[in-house]
Amino acid sequence: MSYPYVLLSAAVSLDGYLDDTGPERLLLSGPADFDRVDEVRAASDAILVGAGTIRADNPRLLVNSAERRAARVAEGRPAYPLKVTVTASGDLDPAAKFWHTGGEKAVYTTDAGAERAARLLGDSAEIVPLGPELDWRALLEHLYVVHGVRRLMVEGGGTVHTQLLRQGLADELQLVLAPLLVGDPAAPRLFGPGAYQSGRLRLTETRRIEDVVLMRYEPTAPGAGAVPAAADRHWLRIACELAALCPPSKTAFSVGAVVVAADGTELARGHSREGDDPVVHAEEAALAKIDPADPRLAAATVYSSLEPCARRASRPAPCAELILRAGVRRVVTAWREPDTFVEAADGSGILARAGAEVVVLPEYEAQAKAPNGHLVR
Ligand SMILES: NC(=O)c1ccc[n+]([C@@H]2O[C@H](COP(=O)([O-])OP(=O)(O)OC[C@H]3O[C@@H](n4cnc5c(N)ncnc54)[C@H](OP(=O)(O)O)[C@@H]3O)[C@@H](O)[C@H]2O)c1
Repeated sequence: MSYPYVLLSAAVSLDGYLDDTGPERLLLSGPADFDRVDEVRAASDAILVGAGTIRADNPRLLVNSAERRAARVAEGRPAYPLKVTVTASGDLDPAAKFWHTGGEKAVYTTDAGAERAARLLGDSAEIVPLGPELDWRALLEHLYVVHGVRRLMVEGGGTVHTQLLRQGLADELQLVLAPLLVGDPAAPRLFGPGAYQSGRLRLTETRRIEDVVLMRYEPTAPGAGAVPAAADRHWLRIACELAALCPPSKTAFSVGAVVVAADGTELARGHSREGDDPVVHAEEAALAKIDPADPRLAAATVYSSLEPCARRASRPAPCAELILRAGVRRVVTAWREPDTFVEAADGSGILARAGAEVVVLPEYEAQAKAPNGHLVR
């Protein structure tokens, strides 16, 4: 399953509200930040808001800058990103500006909602029923496969942001903190109550924009079981970057590995032939840096650019075995081992037969192979 990169964007008051309860939309940021949002929109293939935001704010969700629209067209993209909304009820006002401005529109909904939405909207939008309930993964896959969306900007509201973050589907959060207080418990909050990742998110940028502050974060917690989370892609990308750091070899693969605890804490990283050890493997190097008694290993995930090895001549235990001995039960990898050095190696099979989950994300295979181009056809 391939999904677009999902960026959650919102402005919040100092006390964490998205809006007040008045009839007019509360303006939380100023012209310079609206222009920044315009730039982020222009870089996106689609913009999504919940039906609640259409009802409350009646937004147009356009790329306002003519230069940015022209640049999109010059790149062969439509002038405006696809506009997307989600609804269970299908209760969408056909007079809302959302339908009468910009480019293509799509409504993702339930089977029941689809009937009502189709009756109200006619052919103003593509209506996509996703079954008795709306499944966010099915929505993201549909956007990726059918609409070619690689970058999705989600502009609220809180109900939508909450679900995407809790389900591990957000790659990035862009929050603008505005210097005002709402203080009304009936006002909508950015994130509702419920189960989120337990650890800390990664702060990747802070920027002052007039009197507001932009903060960018990335979720860090690995997914659970076979279901990949957005953070899995982040960590696997790092493993692939580590593979590029390996001293070159004609007789062994270049591989990178990262071990990450369930709360998103990085426990260790390693790469092939690191330090002064000409035969060390990436997973082996990373695991050697962790106390074997570390209780976080049992729920940790190992990210390895190449599937852990099943047999090796250089050391008594292959990496699949080392991972099992360490107590780790989840591995995410980009690439199954080819027959270059070992015939029918099946490190994933060893892991799976011992009860570990192995998740392969083939979208990173090319990156994982890049430093090994001389070893594979
Ligand atoms: N400050 C900011 O940056 C910002 C940005 C955006 C919005 N806002 C504010 O946020 C408020 C709106 O937020 P909100 O949380 O009430 O609404 P919302 O998240 O925009 O939309 C919620 C609605 O989306 C649909 N929906 C959400 N999840 C669904 C699912 N899993 N399956 C099917 N339908 C689903 C439902 O529509 P139906 O009811 O039709 O079934 C639901 O009522 C407004 O006050 C707005 O001003 C602020």
